[in-house]
Amino acid sequence: MIDGRSTPEESLMSFDAESALLSDAPRGVARTAAPARSAILMCAPDHFGVDYIINPWMENQIGQAALPRAKAQWENLHGKLAAHSDIAFVAPTPGLPDMVFTANAGLAIGDTAVVSRFNAKERRPEERLFCEWFEAQGYSIAPWPENVPFEGAGDALLDHARGIVWCGYGWRSGEEAPKHLQKIFGRRAVALRLVDPRFYHLDTCFCPLSGGWLMYYPDAFDIASREAIRAIAPVEKRIEVGEKDALSFACNAVEVAGRVFLNACSDDLRSRLLDAGFTPVVTPLSEFMKAGGAAKCLTLQLPGAASKVMPRG
Ligand code: ARG
Repeated sequence: MIDGRSTPEESLMSFDAESALLSDAPRGVARTAAPARSAILMCAPDHFGVDYIINPWMENQIGQAALPRAKAQWENLHGKLAAHSDIAFVAPTPGLPDMVFTANAGLAIGDTAVVSRFNAKERRPEERLFCEWFEAQGYSIAPWPENVPFEGAGDALLDHARGIVWCGYGWRSGEEAPKHLQKIFGRRAVALRLVDPRFYHLDTCFCPLSGGWLMYYPDAFDIASREAIRAIAPVEKRIEVGEKDALSFACNAVEVAGRVFLNACSDDLRSRLLDAGFTPVVTPLSEFMKAGGAAKCLTLQLPGAASKVMPRG
């Protein structure tokens, strides 16, 4: 499905949500009906900072992120996630201040990974490092066209309840990316055009949650994309947030074990999440906001498998 329209090809691809969930476990890992403990890739902020400007959040912020505070905020997030999830680490690298945003490493489903092909040239040196990490973990790396920018799980969010991949394009990932992802992963890719430069990656304004819930900021999308979202997610499953929550990156949330970890949350959003059965957990990430990222950007959801988790590099 591209922009809400089904293609003949995909109506041939039948989808079984249950088996897809189970098949998210990488090769060599026992596949049982028990829910797999989730695994998350993180990168310690040893070399984090705002050193250049590639999104509006970074304007006037060069040199402004306080590293000790960033480290404390990251440790806090890490500790909270580690209580419910296995955490893998990729080694931080000098000169790559944005590598901490592992959501942009690529997209991994099952035993296949697509490595990002950064639009932002400042981040292109990260590609090789993330590629090496995926390879070392045994993922098979799917070939990706050189001329199609794709910034990983920042712009491609797996919706487990629907078995689809929601894809954002317009600022960083290219319009062509969804169709390549659909082909590689055999899942419907729903392409959504991002129109507000503050919400330059899909995960800054859109968050599929378990049970088919969807938390998002409608104004970040063009009209056709808003309609596509509403056609797929019924009103009773949509948690539409206002600008204030959106600007504090409430949608840049990580869900683990029924908890939703996020930088900030209004009282209204808190009660809506609670009503939907989630427990919001606020974990302030002000220093990372200066680079245009928060909780979700600092994580990459991996197909659950404790055996793949590496010690901290
Ligand atoms: N400064 C980084 C960039 O502009 C922030 C990335 C945030 N990551 C995300 N998944 N939204 O690339």
